[in-house]
Amino acid sequence: MKPVVAIYPGTFDPLTNGHLDLIERGSRIFGELVVAILRNSEKTPLFSVEERLEMLRECTSPWPNVRVESFEGLLVDYARQSKAQVVLRGVRAVSDYEYELQMAWMNRQLDSSLETVFMMPAGAYPYLSSKLVREIASLGGALSSMVPRSVEVRLRERLGVAPLTRK
Ligand code: PNS
Repeated sequence: MKPVVAIYPGTFDPLTNGHLDLIERGSRIFGELVVAILRNSEKTPLFSVEERLEMLRECTSPWPNVRVESFEGLLVDYARQSKAQVVLRGVRAVSDYEYELQMAWMNRQLDSSLETVFMMPAGAYPYLSSKLVREIASLGGALSSMVPRSVEVRLRERLGVAPLTRK
């Protein structure tokens, strides 16, 4: 059997330790893991796609079978183009399940040969999300357990907020 190519798609604005945990788990199971950043003109991201590519490439360099790309259009088309057989998605809590199931069903309707595989991140990250990380960063909260150091530095620079010093 040929090694399985999987795509881990997302917005990654920014990358969190939860994403990295899933990437590490995926890299152990799949022959090749393509982390794919959606180029979405509808959302106004905090970081440009190029900045996110740079951050992800920097943080995933320890895993030789992981590569980071960006894509536009339908995920199923990108998967076909990348010769991927699997879409990897993380499910943290029950609240993620409905949305994830809906996407997986839709993708199956569009391409029945593409399988979606759900994985749980480590217990430390059940409620970690990029949205909350952006909010905490903008209010000067502690981020060291939530994002890699290089991402934390960029967040502080982008938002112009120094971390709170606690007494
Ligand atoms: O990190 P996110 O924002 O939850 O990722 C969502 C993503 C990028 C996986 C999803 O929006 C997607 O696959 N978009 C590509 C367009 C597409 O194929 N839409 C139909 C999916 S059912």
